Amino acid sequence: MPHASMLRQITDFENRANPYPVYEELRRTPVLHEEEDGPYLISSYYDIKALLHDPRISSDAANLAAAGDDALDQAEETGGLPPSFLRLDPPEHDRLRRIANGAFGPPHRPRRIEGMRGQMRDIVTELIDGFGDARQIDLVDQFAYPFPVTVICRLLGVPREDEPKFRTWVDPLVASLEPDTGQGGVADRQKTAREARMQLGMYLAELVEERAREPRDDMLSDLVNSRGPDGAMTMMEVLSTSVLLLIAGHETTVNLITNGMLTLLRHPEHLRRLREDPGLSVNVVEELLRYEPPVQLVPQRTCISDIEVRGVTIPKGSRIWLVLAAGNRDPERFKDPERFDPDRGDIQHLGFGSGIHSCFGAPLARLETQIALSELARRLESPRLVEDPPPYRQNAVLRGPRHLGIAFEGLR
Ligand code: HEM
Repeated sequence: MPHASMLRQITDFENRANPYPVYEELRRTPVLHEEEDGPYLISSYYDIKALLHDPRISSDAANLAAAGDDALDQAEETGGLPPSFLRLDPPEHDRLRRIANGAFGPPHRPRRIEGMRGQMRDIVTELIDGFGDARQIDLVDQFAYPFPVTVICRLLGVPREDEPKFRTWVDPLVASLEPDTGQGGVADRQKTAREARMQLGMYLAELVEERAREPRDDMLSDLVNSRGPDGAMTMMEVLSTSVLLLIAGHETTVNLITNGMLTLLRHPEHLRRLREDPGLSVNVVEELLRYEPPVQLVPQRTCISDIEVRGVTIPKGSRIWLVLAAGNRDPERFKDPERFDPDRGDIQHLGFGSGIHSCFGAPLARLETQIALSELARRLESPRLVEDPPPYRQNAVLRGPRHLGIAFEGLR
């Protein structure tokens, strides 16, 4: 039987629960090009990092479309909204990101995120209290999903009663982030995603108009009313930025919290330590972003001129997949990389990417996950996994369990 291509092995659901042996094999050919029209796969830490900082690598949706990736193009380009700054290059990227940053946190408003610490704690407490007398929960549905969704809605200023609507719109958008590997189903996924994006856009348009007329203390109001040195965002830019923030803040943080509890339950000594010292959550979260990163790869880059990597010339117009999760366990960079070790002194992971597109929501995601894991560790009595490995979601890019059954003996 012919050996399945690495690209297929990465996206193959069979490998979802443990993709790391595939990444180990992938790293043996750090610049891998398997099919004429296919992407170049980059898997070593230093190469990924360098390319994330290289202006010859474009994130522009239009370049990606020209390189033949219809799937990713359609999700962004249609549905009536222009591409968000995730899918733009400088100078547009920088202008929009700066305006968004002014509304989000540093440098002008470091308070917006830190100021939510108390609210985050309250949401976590409410969700854990909601387990009631149960002795078994699904961490995903009962905690890891509702928590970040509630937080991002509060932050943006989306009314609480509308939060449930988002699930039906956001889920298809997240599913559409899966790269096209020629295995079918893409056209349907894209169609559903386009419709969802349009509905979400229409819903937000109304809200944004309200906030333009009557600003409140929330991010939507700041986005629509910002008049700094970079000027104002157009209405369409406000909408595509808001959709980006809603989507980016969803599945990623859900998966970090879920991967986090899964990993801690597999390493009970660290769970016990965290229970006794919530301060350890800072290092635990960083090591999780290295060891089990929710974004496994960045499949949306195009070379806009020839680039040489390790003696291989990647021609202009090629697509590139940067396999962050492989770089995170690269023995060239990390000592004993297959070991989960929150005590390692140096955890400069690629979990949030790097360079100009590095995660905009990182301070929020970090704080949410630190609070979530330390509170779960503190309050669940004798927790244990119901099933290991748990069932995973299809998505190979945003990877995480669909359910995580945890049995426990009561709440503290
Ligand atoms: C970008 C990971 C949570 C907003 C990124 C990128 C990664 C990432 C790897 C780089 C993508 C690229 O280079 O193309 C994560 C992880 C998260 C998380 C692992 C949770 C654990 C969030 C949250 C938000 C957010 C909560 C919003 C509130 C963004 C945005 C970008 C981004 C807007 C695009 C930045 C740019 O293009 O300049 N994220 N993210 N992320 N993230 Fe996150």
